[in-house]
Formats: sequence, structure tokens, C-alpha cells
Amino acid sequence: MIYLTKEIVEKYLDGERKLSLDLGKSVTEVTDELKGVPLDEVKGDFVYAWDGKELWKVAVFDKGLYRLRMMRGKPILEIDGLRMHLVKDFKDVFDYSKLVVRTLRLVQSDVVLDTCMGLGYTAIAASKKADRVVTVELSPAVIAMAKWNPWSKELFERKRIEIIGEKSCLDYIKGEDDGKFTKVIHDPPRFSKAGELYSRGLYRELRRICKKDALLFHYVGSMGKKKRDIMGEVAKRLEECGWKVLKKNARLQGIIARAV
Ligand SMILES: C[S@@+](CC[C@H](N)C(=O)[O-])C[C@H]1O[C@@H](n2cnc3c(N)ncnc32)[C@H](O)[C@@H]1O
Repeated sequence: MIYLTKEIVEKYLDGERKLSLDLGKSVTEVTDELKGVPLDEVKGDFVYAWDGKELWKVAVFDKGLYRLRMMRGKPILEIDGLRMHLVKDFKDVFDYSKLVVRTLRLVQSDVVLDTCMGLGYTAIAASKKADRVVTVELSPAVIAMAKWNPWSKELFERKRIEIIGEKSCLDYIKGEDDGKFTKVIHDPPRFSKAGELYSRGLYRELRRICKKDALLFHYVGSMGKKKRDIMGEVAKRLEECGWKVLKKNARLQGIIARAV
């Protein structure tokens, strides 16, 4: 599969031949790879895929527009124009996941639950430290994006990662035994899009499936001066559900809590 963006096509038409055809993972000397590709159809800030016969936008419409787009040289997932990755204050798209993993002090013996898989960047980063990572994704469209994304490849190849597809993390958690996990990465869509992922019901169940002293990272979103203090509300709810809030992290826009 060859992946193209408008930027790559422009470089090619300008005569550049050392180009990346896999969304920046590697650079190749392009010879006749782009023969037959309708390059004039590569438009806007979409990512396109070419399989030798057909060119298509890496995008799916499923109750909303799911698509890949490039951000600082790496693909990100957008749902209805909303970025599913925190890039503000990070030079590289993957730095957020690396910092989450560092903040949670992941070690080999950890059993990690990544509640919201997306493109799997947090799950992949976690699997580089921990023995087992379970990652859950509700949307079939997102799973398709991850399968197309060259940067998500490890998600499907690493034996340490188990993907629970097309299931809500709420349902997955309800079916799991007490005390199974030692670390949780909870990186949900923003509060206005997925209120149930910020609920006491979820926090109680998360606590139940975690061992005592397990650590949780919960992305909450901007701590900007809004009328509603969602960070404060989340912290309060977590404390009501068996979690001790250790820190509110402004750069990660989230909360670190310990199971008590
Ligand atoms: C912010 S993104 C996660 C990004 C991910 N951590 C990564 O590194 O690519 C949130 C994801 O949660 C998914 N999602 C929404 N509701 C969900 C639910 N109830 N259970 C599991 N996943 C859900 C969305 O489809 C989206 O892919």
C-alpha cells in the first residue's frame, strides 16, 4: 500500500524523488511507484491510499467523519474534525503517549488496561514497558483507521497487546475479575462527546478490576478558564469511587490517581 498526501504529491511534481510513501515511517527513492496514480485527485489535508488499482481517502463516514490526517509529520485520528490526540505542548505526536507511560511508572510486571484504543499510540507505548496491555475500542471505523495506519502496525503484531474490538470499555470492564490490572490509561474523547466515560459508574468498576495501589491516568481535557471545572468534578468523583487523586497534570491535561 502507498500512502499519499498533498504535500508528498507536490514534492514529487517538483521533481523530488526521495519521498516517504508510508506516512513518514521510511523514505524511499521513488522510481515508478506512482505510475498510474491519479495524483490530481490528492487534495486538501486528507490522507490517501493507493493499492495499485484504486486511490481512496483514508476516511470512513459512520455516524460522523472518521479520518486520518497528518500532524507534525505523523498521522492522527480525527472524529468530526476533533483531534483524538493531545498535541498542544508536544513537539511530536507520540510524546504524549511516552509521557503518560513515564508518569504511570510502567514496569514489566504491569498488567495495563488502555480503555480507549484509537490509533493505539498509548497502547503501543505501554507495551514497550509492560508485559500485558489490553486495549478496547468501540468504533469499527476507528479500528479500520488503525489497520490502515502504518504507525499502528505494532498494535496488531505485538503479542503483548490484546485488542478488544467493537465493544465499549464499560461493558468490557463489567465482565472482568476483581484486581486484574495494575495500571490504567483512560484516554476518552472529550467530556461533551462521551459523558459516560467520566461517570462514577465507570470509576467504581475501574477501581474494582484494579489491584490496591494501581495507578490510573485519566485524560480530562483543557484546564483553561471555563465556566465548568471538569477537572475538579472528575477528581471529586474519583475520590468518591475508591481513588486517591495524586496529581493534576496540566501538560497531559489529566489526573493521576491511586487505587486505595
Ligand atoms: C482520544 S481517543 C484515544 C486515543 C488513543 N489513546 C491513541 O493513542 O490513539 C478516544 C477513542 O475512544 C473511542 N471510544 C469512544 N467511546 C468508547 C467506549 N465507550 N469504549 C471504548 N472506546 C471508546 C473513540 O472511538 C476513540 O477512538
